[in-house]
Amino acid sequence: MKTTDLRVAVLKGGFSRERQVSLSTGTAAAAALREAGCRVVEVDVRSRRWRLPSDADVVFVALHGAYGEDGELQTKLERQGVPFTGSSSEACRRAFDKSVAKECFRAAGLRTPQDLVLRARETSPRARDLPFDLPVVVKPAREGSSIGVRIVRKESELAEAIRQARRSDAVVLVEKYIPGIELTVGVLGDQPLPPVEIRPRAGWYDYTNKYTSGNTEYIVPARLDARLNRRLKRCGWAAHCALGCRDMSRADFRLDEVGGIYLLEVNTIPGMTKTSLLPKAAAAAGIAFPRLCLALVESALKRGRRAS
Ligand SMILES: Nc1ncnc2c1ncn2[C@@H]1O[C@H](COP(=O)(O)OP(=O)(O)OP(=O)(O)O)[C@@H](O)[C@H]1O
Ligand SMILES: [Mg+2]
Repeated sequence: MKTTDLRVAVLKGGFSRERQVSLSTGTAAAAALREAGCRVVEVDVRSRRWRLPSDADVVFVALHGAYGEDGELQTKLERQGVPFTGSSSEACRRAFDKSVAKECFRAAGLRTPQDLVLRARETSPRARDLPFDLPVVVKPAREGSSIGVRIVRKESELAEAIRQARRSDAVVLVEKYIPGIELTVGVLGDQPLPPVEIRPRAGWYDYTNKYTSGNTEYIVPARLDARLNRRLKRCGWAAHCALGCRDMSRADFRLDEVGGIYLLEVNTIPGMTKTSLLPKAAAAAGIAFPRLCLALVESALKRGRRAS
């Protein structure tokens, strides 16, 4: 099928706390796919009762967070038998739950910060009872965009941080804080992309610093020596494989002062506006945004043809 004959349904929005980000991703991806010559229908997913246009050949999933990135939507698409971009329902489910993902990372020999998982209704521990010292990072097991994430430096702040994280998910992780710098590695197809260095101008990489233009400096490719660069790319690819991802992913890392690489998480549907991290990394590898979006669609179609 020629690109100009392709009918792509871009699913965007959703009803998670990342709806606004997902609308931006969907709008940007739709424009890029039109630029690449596809016929595109944008579907704003506002509830579980969305309908796929009957003439869609392939679905571009542009939802982040609960429902769109946690495997539920992917399960529905798999049942409908329509090809879609990105990872399978199973891989999305594994990646989206940080407590599950971190077990997969450890099983694959990847270093991730020490953590304590607090299950639903488990009471908050006292800081002195944690298996590691403050500072710690408290985060919901299933959420994104730094929503519900707090860095706790004082014992008195721990219980409140856990309460806040529980607004997103009943399961909460208390993780050892890793000082140093932040890096992210995208994967496209079967290749890790150049690492991106993330430098918030003030504070840490919270929601505001993620989405306010000018608040964070992005350096791509990251200023790493050749060996560290290779190690990080290898870790990004290994993280993708550890969860069984396909098409694309973006792994977030901390790099401490002695060159220790710590894997925080993997996003199966990373932000996909022109200025998002994975597109920035792809651009540094010579892959323009329309080509990136088209490559994802073509990969989904190839799978669809194999399945039928
Ligand atoms: N263990 C840690 N040590 C230091 N900083 C951390 C740690 N865990 C998280 N952070 C900070 O919090 C941010 C958000 O954490 P994380 O990537 O785990 O969650 P997220 O909300 O799923 O992110 P995303 O927007 O990538 O989906 C990180 O980018 C980092 O700045
Ligand atoms: Mg992250």
